[in-house]
Amino acid sequence: MKRIGVFTSGGDAPGMNACIRAVVRTALYHGIEVYGIMRGYSGMIKGEIVRLDTTSVANIVQRGGTILKSARSQKFMTKEGRQQAFDQLVNHKIEGLVAIGGNGTFTGAMKFEEEFGIPTVGAPGTIDNDLYGTDYTIGYDTAVNTALDAIDKIRDTADSHDRAFFVEVMGRDSGYIAIPCAIGGGAEIVLVPEQQQSIDTVIETLQTARKRQKSSFLIIVAEGDEEGNATIIANKVKEAIPEMDARVTVIGHIQRGGAPSAADRLLASQIGIAAVEGLVNGMRNVMAGIVDRKLVYTPFHDTIYKKKLINQGFMRMVEILSV
Ligand code: F6P
Repeated sequence: MKRIGVFTSGGDAPGMNACIRAVVRTALYHGIEVYGIMRGYSGMIKGEIVRLDTTSVANIVQRGGTILKSARSQKFMTKEGRQQAFDQLVNHKIEGLVAIGGNGTFTGAMKFEEEFGIPTVGAPGTIDNDLYGTDYTIGYDTAVNTALDAIDKIRDTADSHDRAFFVEVMGRDSGYIAIPCAIGGGAEIVLVPEQQQSIDTVIETLQTARKRQKSSFLIIVAEGDEEGNATIIANKVKEAIPEMDARVTVIGHIQRGGAPSAADRLLASQIGIAAVEGLVNGMRNVMAGIVDRKLVYTPFHDTIYKKKLINQGFMRMVEILSV
């Protein structure tokens, strides 16, 4: 393999830049040329492809976002779009790809390989940490710390005013961000998509806590929870307990930005090296990840279709620690 491409796709995540840097430098270390594909599959289709050298990735290890930009491409979901992307790669003599992203990114890469035979190795880059095949995804640790910092501040005002705050954190289909935020932020309740918890239970828990003279409450809601978002849940609770002074905070995209934590920089660098070395060693359609501190390559098929379960022990911790 003489020339590879690297791109970031889907929601950006802190540490993507550190991963790009590791990919570029590992490729150069092995005597391989590297091209950066801008805006994910969208830029691949349009031929937005630029040569990267060691200085292109200088001074980015500490920066949030992605220097290659990111996008979610509808066109790549069509055969015509993938054909155009393939033609662009052939024009640029790109023989393999490193895809930094999440589920959607790997679904696209798998289809692309089936149709056109371009080998791809994935790097798990998403704040959601919802990918099977790695204990942590790049950006997750930073996102949790960002959310927790906001939650600490909300706790101050909740306490001053004897209020309940319903705080919505990101995680489209996953409670991975919500759970450590609830434990670390001292929340009374956590609501996650992976485990159904009825509104009645939420109301009952809050009423019991009020009887115990608790005056401020934090309820962490993962955005994809079955019962609805934080506003819907807060309204239902307010109806049942009108005397409870409640507010809603949606932390939102702040969770996607900022300088990556030390853990994310380390993970991104490890994975970036592993992705290129996997590609060089003939791997394709796999994601590089770290499980129990060991490097593993998991087929895209499994990362997409196997569910990474939440830790039930952590859910229990929230219950015990809010007594
Ligand atoms: O997948 C990362 C993520 O931040 C999810 O947590 C969230 O649901 C989604 O992306 C938001 O996407 P967008 O930035 O396109 O609104």
